[in-house]
Amino acid sequence: MHLIKQNSKLRLILVTGFLILQVIAKGNSPADLSRLSIIPKPVSAIPEKGNFTLTKNSVIFVSAQGGEIHSIGNFLAAKLIPATGFGTKVKVTAGKQTSGNIYLTLASGDEKLGEEGYELSVKSNIISLKANKPAGLFNGVQTIRQLFPAGIESSSKQPGPWQIPAGVIFDYPQYAYRGAMLDVARHFFQVNDVKRFIDLIAFYKMNVMHLHLSDDQGWRIEIKKWPNLTSIGGSKQVGGGAGGFYTQKQYSDIVKYAAERYITIVPEIDMPGHINAAMASYPELNCNGKATDLYTGTEVGFSSFCTSKEITYQFISDIFGELAAITPGPYLHIGGDESHVTKLEDYIPFVNRVQQIVTKLGKKVIGWDEIALTSLSPNSAVQYWAKAENAVKGVKQGAKVIMSPAANSYLDMKYDSTTSLGLFWAGFVETDKSYNWDPSTLVPGVEKENILGIEAPLWTETITNMKDLEYMVFPRLLGIADLAWRSAPAGNWGEYKIRLAKHGARLKAMQIDYYPSKLVPWGDYLK
Ligand code: ACM
Repeated sequence: MHLIKQNSKLRLILVTGFLILQVIAKGNSPADLSRLSIIPKPVSAIPEKGNFTLTKNSVIFVSAQGGEIHSIGNFLAAKLIPATGFGTKVKVTAGKQTSGNIYLTLASGDEKLGEEGYELSVKSNIISLKANKPAGLFNGVQTIRQLFPAGIESSSKQPGPWQIPAGVIFDYPQYAYRGAMLDVARHFFQVNDVKRFIDLIAFYKMNVMHLHLSDDQGWRIEIKKWPNLTSIGGSKQVGGGAGGFYTQKQYSDIVKYAAERYITIVPEIDMPGHINAAMASYPELNCNGKATDLYTGTEVGFSSFCTSKEITYQFISDIFGELAAITPGPYLHIGGDESHVTKLEDYIPFVNRVQQIVTKLGKKVIGWDEIALTSLSPNSAVQYWAKAENAVKGVKQGAKVIMSPAANSYLDMKYDSTTSLGLFWAGFVETDKSYNWDPSTLVPGVEKENILGIEAPLWTETITNMKDLEYMVFPRLLGIADLAWRSAPAGNWGEYKIRLAKHGARLKAMQIDYYPSKLVPWGDYLK
């Protein structure tokens, strides 16, 4: 009897000890690769046994000297160094792969990977990332970042260890155009703010940053032939405070910064409406020859170009000419929305002529969905935001559609009735609503093959600084990034909300002021 009691006591001690050891071991080693929180979700992630450990001796080896692949290696090193405190070096591969290192290789592999896909193999001794093109490697680097513990995103040294669970990821996007828009016209955002936004969208494998550069309240890009646009038109913003603008040099700096992150800048000059800042800058643009007053309110739809004046088209040619010269990307966005005081019989020939101006500059047109009321040029794309019938009209003309449905993808809509920032004319857009929609079935008549991609716009009538911007953008942008990339058409909110909750620690490490939606079980993962 006594012996049995002692025996069971001993067993209890052993079992408890074993469980404690297991918990400790678990705490130190990452979960299996397929259960990690990668956003957007990879096409396939197959776990294997073991972990790769990054050490102070680990080197990032690249398959060529100089050029883009070297820059991508440097980008990864720069992301790893602050939190690890290691002096991770980037070197050119010399023959055989050796233990403890990361290898980035450009090689034509599976066609399915296309220009932006990648294949990542994590073994306990080596990480190997391969892609057909540099953009694919860059996307793979974002996945590597997300596979490390969240602390890797910290800007100060963290304890580690820096392990990644072994496995193989094969990954490529569904949509070619995956973007966000920032309205710098209603409230101006400095170059460094735009760069931070670019960094953040790149982390989620987005590849387009659309800048809304002009509106009734402000003109934000230097045009050398028309200097009043910035000296007068750029001087104010919503609420009456000082505005601002980008010099062409600053804009080029943004373009370069974006390109280094495989992001294309799409500049927008909104017309024929939303044009008061220009009309206030030059009296000769107005039908009555008188400059309008600067406007710092938030009403929409009251301004218009004088479509019957020839100077209007000279002005537009100059603007887009200068903009095309500093924009390497293929698109110029011409706006075209809410031209409520331009008669339709004036709007149609106006937009047709502007399309010709842009096309002659060797650029493709994007316009808000209203431009589908005109005769679209062969390469024009229609950005659906409000009217499904316009998107369908665009498709019937053979145009591609960018899906930005306000009720799902507008980042300036309030999350719910308690959100102090934002607007709600398209309804509340909670975190699940921005995630749970399928671009390929949302609008009957707009099929997957008609869709160029997805874009999440942030209008800034009520957004004045980065803290507020981040609160409105995060976490909704992650849901949009996930659906723009993911292979499954319909979202699985139950699965995604856990992935997002696990991702919370990473948002914190990146010091992102995100909205802590009650629909997401953050608390289970943020201990
Ligand atoms: C828009 O929201 N007016 C395109």
